[in-house]
Amino acid sequence: MTILLNNHGYDNESWRREISRQLPELPVKVFGESIDPNEVVYAMVWNHPAGDLNRYPNLKAIFSLGAGAEHFVADASLPDVPVILLADPAVARDMAAHALYWVLTFHRRYADYRSQQKDRIWHRKQIVPTREFRAGVFGLGRIGTEVANRIHDFGYAVSGWDRRTCQLEGIDCYSGTDSLFEFLNRNDVVINALPLSPKTRHFFDGNIFSAMLPGSFFINISRGAVVNDESLLDALDRGHLAGAALDAFAQEPLPVEHRYWSHPHVFVTPHMSGATFASSAAAVIANNVRRLERGLEVFPMFNREAGY
Ligand code: GLV
Repeated sequence: MTILLNNHGYDNESWRREISRQLPELPVKVFGESIDPNEVVYAMVWNHPAGDLNRYPNLKAIFSLGAGAEHFVADASLPDVPVILLADPAVARDMAAHALYWVLTFHRRYADYRSQQKDRIWHRKQIVPTREFRAGVFGLGRIGTEVANRIHDFGYAVSGWDRRTCQLEGIDCYSGTDSLFEFLNRNDVVINALPLSPKTRHFFDGNIFSAMLPGSFFINISRGAVVNDESLLDALDRGHLAGAALDAFAQEPLPVEHRYWSHPHVFVTPHMSGATFASSAAAVIANNVRRLERGLEVFPMFNREAGY
């Protein structure tokens, strides 16, 4: 009985240490080490090579080492065993803190003060009170809900939109396409926390950006391909949107020639809003291993049809 670990391209040693601490009864072998395929019962992977997971005839379950599911969507020969995504509350909290940072930055005009400082200008900008600055969160899954709640904690007027009906205390919830434009038309800043799926690819297009309030801001903490880059750049160039803070891109690393790098109203960060650390996430995965062993339900399962 062995765990196959493959945090492809990233650090494996912290995961080996933390998983071994959590599940001392199961040896952990890193992809590439000598391993008997018959021994592997659990695979814990990120960006594994497509097809590799088919090589282990006694595999009982597959666990993701990150929140996203693209590596499973990209693997046409994923074996027919439970595939469990990673929902580490520490990651959701970090992503909420990241979104809050940009809401504060846009509302309180910190970037303007940075440039005023260069010219030694002492000038206080006019802003609306916090409770009147309206933040709208797209996608009220685990991460979007955490984002909405934490921004609400700081006194902002928060609303959320989801395909399904939703209810969150203190947060106005909109659902379905009928309410989309009403939702867009009320927010000073819109935050994307929608997962990438065939349905959400280029969800943020010219129609969506045009329906946002003139002078509003956009924050993307999800996946780059949920956004149509040309439409976003057009909305920024026209001055319809006042700024965008982007952490995820259709192509990563963001190509050096991409216009986002030099756009005066775009803030680029290198997909750092919610890094996964083995020190917290290994316990979440180990808990699901133990639940599986006891025949209990595990959460969240990868939905092969939806692609997330
Ligand atoms: C990061 O984007 C992740 O999916 O964990």
